[in-house]
Amino acid sequence: MTWLVTGGAGYIGAHVVRALLDAGEQVVVVDDLSSGLRRKVPDQVVLVEADVRDRDALARALATHRVEGVVHLAAKKAVAESVAQPMQYYRENVDGVLSLVEAMTDAGVSRIVFSSSAAVYGSPDTDFVREETPTIPMSPYGGTKLVGEWAIRDATTAYGLTAIALRYFNVAGAGAADLGDTGANNLIPMVLRAYSNGQRPQVFGADYSTADGSCIRDYIHVADLADAHVIAAQRLASETTPWSVYNIGRGVGSSVFEVMDSVGAAIGEPLNPEVVQRRAGDPARIVASAEAARAGLGWSATRDLDDMVTSAWSAWQQYPPS
Ligand code: UD1
Repeated sequence: MTWLVTGGAGYIGAHVVRALLDAGEQVVVVDDLSSGLRRKVPDQVVLVEADVRDRDALARALATHRVEGVVHLAAKKAVAESVAQPMQYYRENVDGVLSLVEAMTDAGVSRIVFSSSAAVYGSPDTDFVREETPTIPMSPYGGTKLVGEWAIRDATTAYGLTAIALRYFNVAGAGAADLGDTGANNLIPMVLRAYSNGQRPQVFGADYSTADGSCIRDYIHVADLADAHVIAAQRLASETTPWSVYNIGRGVGSSVFEVMDSVGAAIGEPLNPEVVQRRAGDPARIVASAEAARAGLGWSATRDLDDMVTSAWSAWQQYPPS
């Protein structure tokens, strides 16, 4: 079957593309290369260089390549930037979903896997976040993902689409050395960048009500996440429920200090992190319940935090970010 992967040249998208190819699927990528890299798209995959809001370009790509399903990842994803530029985030992320769904319905393509985020939950008051936990996003980024979910959910009812939304927790690691996260927006790349520049990595607050005082997150290996997309995509062919949502996490919390220890072990020297002020808007703890994905998709993570950190460090060394 042929899948169109939007954002397939990006950090997560490129992993999804390779996982789909490994599973015997065909892939076409749509990416405007605003943050994605051409070198991450395999030679046998057609890259359509277009903005995901360009409905005509999408419709052409869907028809030309006889696409039967879409994995939609293209979006802006920097939480702090979304606070500063909310309209740009709503325009790009929400308009992207709308034009994609319209192009799909025009072309008669009915299957979609949607890249959503734990950011839809905001700061949930529960140890393990379930899919039924109230969605109260704390950032425009999280808001755009929730609105995207609603638009797709409503399209399943109105136009007969079948959709699965995957709410990613904290994605990290590299499935291959050339696929590392070069964006440096998230904790592990930021720690590696600080180390590479001879600086001390920073802990954004050590006065939270957690065991060691630093924030706790549910880190998920990008290769496990990519596998979840393949399972979800293949599931759509036989899916009778038109709309479902799954957390993609491990159900295991790691603190910022624990991540720093893991990075120090991978590098071979302790990091001596510096504790600085809290970053505004950070919840103390957000950890998935991974039960629904296990029961509904038959998926669960197989890689741990050390796997994420060692693969990220190895990718960082072999393909240093420019
Ligand atoms: C947020 C979103 C997540 C989104 C991700 C994308 C929420 C709840 N989560 O994750 O859905 O996919 O952004 O960017 O909105 N930290 C440090 N020092 C650093 C960098 C980070 O201590 O140099 C800490 C942060 O305070 C946080 C943890 O590390 O506690 C992880 O931070 P980060 O990687 O930025 O991800 P989140 O903000 O958790």
